[in-house]
Amino acid sequence: MIPDEVVEQVQAAADIVGIIGEHVRLKRVGSVFRGPCPFHQGTNANFSVVPGGGYHCFVCHEKGSVFTFVQKRLGLTFVEAVKYVGAKSGIEVREGDRRRDGPDPREPLWELNAAAAAWFSTTMWDGAGGKAARDYLERRGLSRATSERFSLGFAPPEVGRMRGYLNGLGYDDGRLIEAGLLARRDESDEPRPRFRDRLMFPISDATGHVVGFGGRLLGAGEPKYLNSPEGPVFSKGRLLYNYHQARNAARRAERVILVEGYFDVIRLVEAGLEEVVAPMGTALTDSQADLLARCARAAFLLYDSDGPGQRASFRTADVLLAHGLTVRIVTLPDGDDPDTFVALRGRAALDAVMGQSLDVFDRKIQMLERGGWFGDLQRKRRALDRLLPTIRAASDPLTRDLYVARTAEAAGVDKAVIARELELAPRRPAARHASRGGPEGPARGEAQRRDARRGSPGDSRLLPRDDEPLQGDVALPAAAIAPEGSAERELIRVMLVRPDYSELVVEEVARMEADGGEQPDVDGDSASAGAIRHPAYAAIFAALAAGPGVEAEALAEQLGVAENGIVEALRAEPGAIVDPEKTVSDSLALLRARSLRERLDELARMLPLAEEAEKPALLRREAELREELRAVGGRDWHSVRRQVV
Ligand code: UTP
Ligand code: MN
Repeated sequence: MIPDEVVEQVQAAADIVGIIGEHVRLKRVGSVFRGPCPFHQGTNANFSVVPGGGYHCFVCHEKGSVFTFVQKRLGLTFVEAVKYVGAKSGIEVREGDRRRDGPDPREPLWELNAAAAAWFSTTMWDGAGGKAARDYLERRGLSRATSERFSLGFAPPEVGRMRGYLNGLGYDDGRLIEAGLLARRDESDEPRPRFRDRLMFPISDATGHVVGFGGRLLGAGEPKYLNSPEGPVFSKGRLLYNYHQARNAARRAERVILVEGYFDVIRLVEAGLEEVVAPMGTALTDSQADLLARCARAAFLLYDSDGPGQRASFRTADVLLAHGLTVRIVTLPDGDDPDTFVALRGRAALDAVMGQSLDVFDRKIQMLERGGWFGDLQRKRRALDRLLPTIRAASDPLTRDLYVARTAEAAGVDKAVIARELELAPRRPAARHASRGGPEGPARGEAQRRDARRGSPGDSRLLPRDDEPLQGDVALPAAAIAPEGSAERELIRVMLVRPDYSELVVEEVARMEADGGEQPDVDGDSASAGAIRHPAYAAIFAALAAGPGVEAEALAEQLGVAENGIVEALRAEPGAIVDPEKTVSDSLALLRARSLRERLDELARMLPLAEEAEKPALLRREAELREELRAVGGRDWHSVRRQVV
C-alpha cells in the first residue's frame, strides 16, 4: 500500500509530458501535446497529453493518468508504476510509509485557504466592490485571462465581509486566525482581516494546495506587499511562487527562471515563459534551492537591475551553485524589472536579453575587470576574496574547475595558487564602521527595507560580502572583553568623562585611520575598518567627534536605545581616570597594534599572488610593519586598566 497522499504527491510532481515523451514522439499543439498513439499503433497525432493532466486517444479512446500509462506500456503493477514515476519526479515512494490515521491534519487549512481564494476572486470580478482592483489590473495591463490563471483576487477594505462569508461556510474565527486570514491586535479585540484593500495572490505548495497569500496594496503605503504569517501550512522559506505550475515547464525547458516578484512571474508566464518562479521577498533558502534542483539543472536569474537586486542575485547564485545548478545572470536595463521590461518591450526584447545572459561567474569577473580590480596586487587580492566564496559554493566539480581556470586567467596567477587558496578556511571579513544610521538612526526608507528583506543590511555595494556579521547589532559588547574592545570602550569613556580630552582622542584616531591607508573595496566602500570597530562604540564615537563637548541631551537624541544604554553605563561607571593622557595613548597603542597585525596579514595574503618582481617590495614593507609593531607592542590591556582606580 502506498498512502493516497503520496500517490497524489507523485502525480502532482510528475511531468507527464516528459514521461510519456520517452515512449511517444510528442509535439506541442497549443496547450497540449500530441503524437501517434502507442496503444493502437496510430500514425497520425491523435494521441493527446495534457500537462498536469492525463492522456487520451481520439481514435482508440484509450485514456488514463501517468500511472495508467506506465502500467500499460511497461507492464507494471500500480505500486510499481507509482514508484517508477516517483523516481523520475524526485519523490521517494515507500510502501506503508507516512501512514496516518485519518486524513492529513493540514487538510482543513488547505480547504479554508482555497475557499478564501475563491471569495477574493469573486469579490474582485463580481460587483461594484471589486472595481478598484479591476481598474488596478487594467492599469498594469494584465488581462482577465492571465489574472484568472493565477487566481488573483481582491481583499476589500471592509472588515466584516470575508469573515461573515467564511463563518457562514462553517469556518470559525479560530480557524481563520490560524490561517492568518484574521488577526487580533489584543485579546479583547474583535478579529480583523489581515489583508485589506489588497490585490491577492494565492500561493500554492508543490502539490497545488493553496497555503497562503501575498497581498499588494492598491494604493501607496507600507508594506507594499504583505504575506500570510508563518504557520502550519505556510512557510515562506519552503515555498516558491508559481512552483507548482512551473515545475513541469522547467523540466521541459531544462531550465528555471528566477525573478523577484509576483508581477514578474505573471508577466513572464503571460509572455509564454512558464518555467518561472519567485522566492517571496527573502533570500533564496536551501529548501527552495532543493525544490529547483529537482526540476532543472540550470537557473536563469532575472532580478531587478538596481543594486539590491544585483546583490540578491549573487547571493542566490551561490545557494543554487551549492545545489549543483548552473547559474546564469540576465541583466536588464537600468530601472527595469522583468515586469516593466516585458510590459514595455515585449517577449522578443526579453529573448534578446536572455540570449545575452552570462554565467554568474563570468558576470562577476566582467564586473571586476570593468572596475579595474585585477590591476594591482592589493586590488587583485580583494577581487580574489570576492570570487573564492563563489568557487567554493560550486558543488559541481566541472563548474569548479572552470571557475578556477577563469579566475587564474583573469587575475594572472597560477591555477595552483587558486587551488591552494580554496583549501584555506574561508575568511571572515573585518567588521566595519557602523556609524551610518544605527538601528534607530534616520533614513529608514524604502532602500533599507528592501535590503532588510533581502537579508543584506543597509549597504550599497556592487558585490555581496559573505557571511557578513549583521550590522546594527548593538547587543552589549561581549567584544569589550577582548583587549581591543576594552580599549575602544576606554577611549569612549575618556571622551564622556573627560570631554577636555575628547579633541585629542578624535585627532589621534583620525591620524591612525589616515595612516592605516584605507583601501577602497571592490564595491567602492572603504574596506579596512576604522579604528573603532564595535558598532555601538563607533556610533557613539562618531556622534561625539561630530560635536565636541556635546550636551548629554543632544547626544542622547542622536543615538539609538542600545547606544544610549552604553553611554549611561560608561558615565555611571565608578572610578576616575587618573591619567587620561596615558589611558588614551595606551588604548591607541592597542588599536594601532591591531591595525598593524591586520596589515601584516594582508601582506601575507598578497604574497602568493605577487609576481617575482613585486616580491622584494612586499617583503621590505613586511619588515617595516613588523618593526612598527614591535615599537607599539609591549603594552597590553592591563597597563590601560591599571590607570583606572
Ligand atoms: P519589489 O519591491 O521589487 O516589488 O518586491 P515588485 O515585485 O516590483 O512589485 P510592484 O511591481 O511594485 O507591484 C519584489 C518582491 O518582494 C516581496 C514581494 O514578493 C515582491 O513581489 N516584497 C516586496 C515583500 O514581501 N514585501 C514588500 O513590502 C515588498
Ligand atoms: Mn515591479
